[in-house]
Amino acid sequence: MTFIFIVQLSFLFMLLSPASACDRCLYRSKATYSTSQFTSGSCGYGQLALNFSRGLQAAAQPSLYKEGAGCGACFKVRCMHPGGFCKSNGTNVMLTNSHGDSSRDFVLERNAMIELASEGKSEDLLKVGVVDIVYKRVPCDHQNHNLSVRVEEASNGPYYLAIKILYQGGQTEITSVGIATVGSRSWTTMRRSYGAVWDTNKMLTGPLKLRFLVKSGFTNNSTSYETPKVLPSDWKSGLIYDAGIQIKDIAQENCHHCDESTW
Ligand SMILES: *[C@@H]1O[C@H](CO)[C@@H](O)[C@H](O)[C@H]1NC(C)=O
Ligand SMILES: *[C@@H]1O[C@H](CO)[C@@H](O)[C@H](O)[C@H]1NC(C)=O
Ligand SMILES: *[C@@H]1O[C@H](CO)[C@@H](O)[C@H](O)[C@H]1NC(C)=O
Ligand SMILES: *[C@@H]1O[C@H](CO)[C@@H](O)[C@H](O)[C@H]1NC(C)=O
Ligand SMILES: *[C@@H]1O[C@H](CO)[C@@H](O)[C@H](O)[C@H]1NC(C)=O
Repeated sequence: MTFIFIVQLSFLFMLLSPASACDRCLYRSKATYSTSQFTSGSCGYGQLALNFSRGLQAAAQPSLYKEGAGCGACFKVRCMHPGGFCKSNGTNVMLTNSHGDSSRDFVLERNAMIELASEGKSEDLLKVGVVDIVYKRVPCDHQNHNLSVRVEEASNGPYYLAIKILYQGGQTEITSVGIATVGSRSWTTMRRSYGAVWDTNKMLTGPLKLRFLVKSGFTNNSTSYETPKVLPSDWKSGLIYDAGIQIKDIAQENCHHCDESTW
């Protein structure tokens, strides 16, 4: 009787208590792998992705890809297949691509799937094909790289500018990008063209500064990062420009399985 009462009371409490914010929600899903390379992944990183997260890349289903907002997110993934096939601490992967199958959260590149396997078990794990996984979002390790932008080849100054955002740190999403001439307060909102690429056809002259709006998660508040100057007036396509800032925010989530342990 007392037991039931306590259970009911705690259940009621769960319903009434505000949802709790969590840095690392733990999710259960499935992953499979692809033998094709993700250098043409939908985020648009191309060969650059080979230098991110030790080149270990993942394609995510639409709810994680978020029409490109998920590009550059890092996840720690561990497989749960029985029989000693799986390494206990898993591996980190970066989201660089998308896939359409909502029954599995990730399609990993083959080398990333191999990283999930314990010593000598990679062939066995590859044979399983679709494996049970647990995963959590983690901050990306970009080894002190500042947030940077690569001017895309489609750019045609001063009439059209397309930039690809690189080395987004922390554990959050860039939700908006603004651009303005240095010294001006007239900001142009860029459009997410695809993946990690943002563009504008507003005429922009002179050296340019940027403003990034970053999701701060649970509270729905956003943090704004403004750079003093990123692009010189004679910017060149194909070049990467340092934004001089690092994003380290963690956008907390709301979940049932909060996992702050290290594995
Ligand atoms: C990857 O990093 C290495 C070492 O920093 C660098 O030499 C190489 O150009 C980079 N590759 C790409 C595609 O950026
Ligand atoms: C897993 O543990 C090994 C051995 O301690 C370590 O070298 C590796 O970096 C760890 N991997 C991850 C993704 O933490
Ligand atoms: C944040 O936004 C979501 C979706 O709009 C809403 O459901 C949620 O209640 C908001 N959270 C807070 C803490 O305001
Ligand atoms: C979020 O924004 C609200 C209203 O502007 C503010 O009161 C609150 O302190 C902010 N929360 C955080 C975590 O910044
Ligand atoms: C990052 O930006 C700061 C200026 O904000 C600069 O001093 C530093 O050298 C930059 N780091 C790298 C690795 O370029």
